[in-house]
Amino acid sequence: MTRVRVFRSADALAGALAHDIARRISETPRLVLGLPTGRTPIPFYQELVRLYSGGRVDFSRTTTFNLDEFVGLDGGDSRSYRAFMQRHLFDHVNIARRRVHFLNGAARDLARECARYERAIRRAGGIDIQILGLGLNGHIGFNEPARALIARTHRTRLTAATRRANAALFGNRTSAVPREALSMGMATILHARRVVLIATGASKARCIDRMVNGPVTPRLPASFLQLHANAEVWVDRAAAARK
Ligand code: GLP
Repeated sequence: MTRVRVFRSADALAGALAHDIARRISETPRLVLGLPTGRTPIPFYQELVRLYSGGRVDFSRTTTFNLDEFVGLDGGDSRSYRAFMQRHLFDHVNIARRRVHFLNGAARDLARECARYERAIRRAGGIDIQILGLGLNGHIGFNEPARALIARTHRTRLTAATRRANAALFGNRTSAVPREALSMGMATILHARRVVLIATGASKARCIDRMVNGPVTPRLPASFLQLHANAEVWVDRAAAARK
C-alpha cells in the first residue's frame, strides 16, 4: 500500500517536503537525492532555497541525480532540464558541482551515456530519497505508458501528450519539443530507499486515484510505486479529490 498524505494546499506540501528534506540532510549530510523537473516541484525548490538563505540547510555534501533529460539538448541549452534545475535550485544553494548529476541528452553514444548514469548512481551508494512528479498520463521520469516498461536508464520516445505538457520550455511550441528523452528506468526508481511522489491540482486527481487504488500496470507507470515498501504520495486537496 502506498501511503498518501494530503496537504491543505500546494504551498503547504512544498513547505513540509522542504523541511523534511532539510532535516534528512542535517542528519545525513551525504544524502543522495533523486530530483524531478516540471511545474509541481518549483515551490518545493523555492522553499529549499529559502531554507538555505536562512542558514537552515547545508548542501555542501549532498549528491543529486536528476531523473531525465531531452535527447539532443546539452546542459548549456536553456531549455534543458539541467538549465531548469540551475535556475530553480542549484544556482542558489551551495551544492558542489561535482555532486550534481545529469543525463547528457547530447552525448554521442546515448546507450553508453545511460550505462554511465547507472554506474554513477551505484557508485554514489544508490539513491536515498527519490522525489517524483507525475505526468498527466501517469508517467514518472519519462517512463511513458506502454505495453512494457524498461528497468534501467534508457532512451525513450515521448508521447504527444507529454510533448504538449512540456511545450512551455520551448516557447509554447509543441513541435519544438524533442521527440525523445533519456530517463531513469522503473527499477532505477524503485531501488531508491524512499520514494516521495508529489502531485498538486485537480488535473492530477484521476491519475492519483488510479495509481493508488488501481492495478499495477505499465499502462500507468506510477502504479508500480505500489510495489515499493517505502513509497509515499504527497498531494494537495485538489489532487486528492477522487475523480
Ligand atoms: C515532465 C517530467 C516528469 C514530471 C512531469 C510532470 O514530463 N519528465 O518527470 O513529473 O513533467 O510535470 P508537472 O509537474 O509540470 O505536471
